Amino acid sequence: MAVVLKSPQEIEKMRVAGQVVREILELLRSQVKPGATTLDLEKAAEAGLRERGAKAAFKGYHGYPCVLCASVNSEVVHGIPSRKRVLKEGDIVSLDFGAVVDGYFGDSAITVAVGAKIAPETERLLRVTEASLQSAIAVVKPGATLGDIGAAVQGVVEAEGFSVVRDFVGHGIGVHMHEDPQVPNFGEAGHGMKLRAGMVIAIEPMVNAGKPDVRVLKDGWTAVTDDGSMSAHFEHTVAVTPTGARVLTE
Ligand code: MF3
Ligand code: CO
Repeated sequence: MAVVLKSPQEIEKMRVAGQVVREILELLRSQVKPGATTLDLEKAAEAGLRERGAKAAFKGYHGYPCVLCASVNSEVVHGIPSRKRVLKEGDIVSLDFGAVVDGYFGDSAITVAVGAKIAPETERLLRVTEASLQSAIAVVKPGATLGDIGAAVQGVVEAEGFSVVRDFVGHGIGVHMHEDPQVPNFGEAGHGMKLRAGMVIAIEPMVNAGKPDVRVLKDGWTAVTDDGSMSAHFEHTVAVTPTGARVLTE
């Protein structure tokens, strides 16, 4: 599959989808508290889509059963919301959410602390992962490379003694959730495909407090850290414009 460039009109449509994703993620953030279940968050996300006349991006994708991915503590990505998963003080939960409006996709993720008391090391993991995403966004402009993005993420993460997950990557996005190119969170500056104005990509660092290795649980979806360490995930849908990045999901 080749990279499909988007017109300014298409990028406006993707921004509408991105705004729906943002609004719903902020709603979910406000509902993260001790005692809430990840299924409560799924229900709130479904209601948010319904109220806005938007469609779910994830539900049915390769058989994924929900509109939201909710990954707790050592779960890296693709946690399936469940009535049995009760959030407690000191947990972290990664909320990955996508929406489709008028045929265009938006995709974004945040990791949120549950309650007020969180271990300083876990707090640092969240800060560093979000900072790694921002440093990647800062290098986006025509002529920069995919390697520049990966190197930006990796540089921030590894300088802090954390590790970048290799088994999952970011992606192009548009009229499909996953389009070319793949956008790794590791790499060498100056290497890889050059970015062009009109490309839209989802940049999504997944960062482990311990080793980078992950495995998938028997449910076929939930990816967890092999060493049981905490993991964080932040994601934005980003358009490459003639002057730099435009974040469609902020
Ligand atoms: N944000 C995730 C991604 O970019 C969403 C995929 S979850 C799935 O790949 F359930 F839809 F597969
Ligand atoms: Co994504």
